[in-house]
Amino acid sequence: MSSQYGEFLPPQRLLMGAGPANVHPRVLQAMTASLLGHLDPVFLQVMNDVQGMLREVFKTQNAATLPVSGTGTAGMEAACVNILEPGDLFIVATNGYFGERLAEIASRTGASVVTVEHAVGEPVSASAIKAELAKHPRVKGVGVVHAETSTGVITPIAEIAKVVHEAGALLVVDAVTSLGGAPLEVDGWDIDVCYSGTQKCIGAPPGLSPITFGARAIEVMNNRKTKVQSFYLDMTALHDYWQQRVYHHTAPISMIYSLREALRLVLEEGLENRWQRHADNAAALIAGIDAMGLRIVANPEFRLPSITAVYSPDGIPEASVRKHLLDNFNIEVSGGLATMPELAGKIWRIGLMGHNSTSSNVFYFLSALETALAANEFEIVAGAGVSAAQRKLRELAS
Ligand SMILES: Cc1ncc(COP(=O)(O)O)c(C=O)c1O
Repeated sequence: MSSQYGEFLPPQRLLMGAGPANVHPRVLQAMTASLLGHLDPVFLQVMNDVQGMLREVFKTQNAATLPVSGTGTAGMEAACVNILEPGDLFIVATNGYFGERLAEIASRTGASVVTVEHAVGEPVSASAIKAELAKHPRVKGVGVVHAETSTGVITPIAEIAKVVHEAGALLVVDAVTSLGGAPLEVDGWDIDVCYSGTQKCIGAPPGLSPITFGARAIEVMNNRKTKVQSFYLDMTALHDYWQQRVYHHTAPISMIYSLREALRLVLEEGLENRWQRHADNAAALIAGIDAMGLRIVANPEFRLPSITAVYSPDGIPEASVRKHLLDNFNIEVSGGLATMPELAGKIWRIGLMGHNSTSSNVFYFLSALETALAANEFEIVAGAGVSAAQRKLRELAS
């Protein structure tokens, strides 16, 4: 019998949007290895390796460090459901869509949530959080997005951690778009809960959410009055599975193989070298964008190395430029999120994440963008973007 459904061979896209990004061939190859049972002694060693490497990448000694099954949103949910209970107060500092999502998820635990809103393009301010903390007698935690993917802004965390701890609260940090691509130090900055995703700077497919809980967060979890609302994301049970191998749910074996290989690549390169690579290629991209006369959303002092949000020139429909890039160059970039009316239909979000953060991708993208803009009747000096990016990289190398 033949099926009506043919073989699926996806086109070879260059994924330069908000993620997923393309991954190293070694990571794809790791996913094709034979399955093991999730309690097989050989797989248990794989789990140990992944936990050990995640601690290195998060820069933490936290025992409770593991990949939650599910994408970055599962990490957000796990952070919230484990530390929050009905009646708690949680503050979320928002400077884009993912802060809003964190607030929404936190509110579903039954906790009261207060948001401290910041302007689009600006980082979260420690003094704004301090002022909000001063208004409330007891705050359970504060949530901040380190790398706001919707706007391309990075927020400095260390000062925020100080004000949060002075108020006796826990600090929850979303590092979905920074882990492995921008400086992040869970222990050095005193972060209590930090979660990420695999499909961005870590360089694996989407499907796992690395998370880490520090001592203060564990104490809060141990003193809960109510059960964690989610069985699947109950960190105490998950930790028992990862530490004592008590069955909780069937681990996504092939995804964990892929994460192990991606983490090996991160450590082979060296975490600091990888941060530098992301910073240099982002600087080259930004030099090219500036030279083309385009405007960047983020405040120049707080630009994220993994994603750059750029306004489409007045009168140029951003979606038709993106379509041109996809149809003619196989390049995917993201638009503004529909949930942010101030940016939807007005920006492109250009990702340089993990395996994709290379100078050749910067040059290819800038020259493709020039062609796509010309096709939309927006002319720029030929080669201006690529030359500026080349000059920036020479300057950084000298
Ligand atoms: C900052 C941030 N947090 C959370 C998420 C949610 O992750 P996922 O889409 O993998 O569930 C994303 C996804 O882009 C993100 O950029």
